[in-house]
Amino acid sequence: MTAPTVYVLSGPNLNRLGTREPDVYGSDTLDDIHAAVQREARDLGLIADCRQTNHEGELIDWLHEAVDVGADVVLNPGAFTHYSYAVRDACAIVTTSGRSLVEVHLSNPATREEFRHTSVVAGVATGTIAGFGLQSYLLGLRALV
Ligand code: DQA
Repeated sequence: MTAPTVYVLSGPNLNRLGTREPDVYGSDTLDDIHAAVQREARDLGLIADCRQTNHEGELIDWLHEAVDVGADVVLNPGAFTHYSYAVRDACAIVTTSGRSLVEVHLSNPATREEFRHTSVVAGVATGTIAGFGLQSYLLGLRALV
């Protein structure tokens, strides 16, 4: 049997990790995160399909694609977390189809600015992991198995 595929999706500005606010997000680049995710996925018997986009529509298309191929999702929606009802609705399509979707954040938005305290995604996610840097992604993968 082939290993199940998990979509590991990151939203806007996360391609700038490493130099973007390192005091908040740490010094790991997105390539570092994807490499660690690939290693963890292999250990867990999963295949990780890692992608990043700055574009809401592209992220929504990938969430639809996850449903179509039957993949669970680890999603860091970036700032879309706080206001994108369109991303939220796409996440609901994933979870109502019977797939799991784990919302992950490097930082802990609950300890930051007021506008970050709301996640419009959390209510339709299977669960949320926040505040553990790169480990948030790895814990998100673990939560799926
Ligand atoms: C983030 C938290 C969001 O508030 C922010 O807009 C991001 C990154 C995180 O991983 O901590 O871009 O999702």
